Amino acid sequence: MSRNDKKLTNLSRQRSPLRFQEMNGKIKQLERGYQEVCEMAVRSILQALDMKDHYTYGHSMRVTYYALVLGKEIGLNTEELYKLELASLFHDIGKIGIPDAVLLKPSRLDSDEFKIMKTHPEKTAEILEGFEPFKDIAHYAKHHHERFDGRGYPSQLRGEEIPLFSRIILIADTFDAMTSTRPYRKGLSYQIAYEELIKFSETQFDPKLASSFVQAMKKDQQKQENTFSLSIIKNLFDKNAA
Ligand SMILES: [Fe+2]
Repeated sequence: MSRNDKKLTNLSRQRSPLRFQEMNGKIKQLERGYQEVCEMAVRSILQALDMKDHYTYGHSMRVTYYALVLGKEIGLNTEELYKLELASLFHDIGKIGIPDAVLLKPSRLDSDEFKIMKTHPEKTAEILEGFEPFKDIAHYAKHHHERFDGRGYPSQLRGEEIPLFSRIILIADTFDAMTSTRPYRKGLSYQIAYEELIKFSETQFDPKLASSFVQAMKKDQQKQENTFSLSIIKNLFDKNAA
């Protein structure tokens, strides 16, 4: 704000403090309304995912919870945590565009099916990019399968080229995938999953984030709470899908 602008603002505050407060209140009200509309859109899009694949919906909720545990541990502020929440909720939304025969296959995918499955981060970005408020969220979600050593997908980004939120989501995503029980294998215990995350630091995961995650999750476990809810999706979910 220029000096002149500041002077004018101060002048108008002095001349009509009530009018200034009123305008400020209206702006805040509009911002809240805008946020509410965006959150309604989030819930509707996620409802579509739930109808297509109930497992991926529950997975997305747990990934969001784990990502926020890590985000809080590394000191993200409220605004950053909100963006991380959105990006995590949406990270797999592109799976809506994956054929049921692949997405819902009750056994392990073969290599051709895996190729199809690997298109989901770009599909996520395609779905979200067109809606201006989700443009940066689309970018974070698009890169949630990039590996720290540059051997991930879709863009083979490496190290800190990978957006911070995408590095966080990858850890949360892998932790949930490891600890969830699927029709073709039993979920691992938290302890074994922590060891795997540390073992694959530097190659798959950002090592600092992986150790912060393990530390934060151990503290979270001490609370002995079995359920969680999120700021955008208020339902109660089970923490552990094993
Ligand atoms: Fe994914």
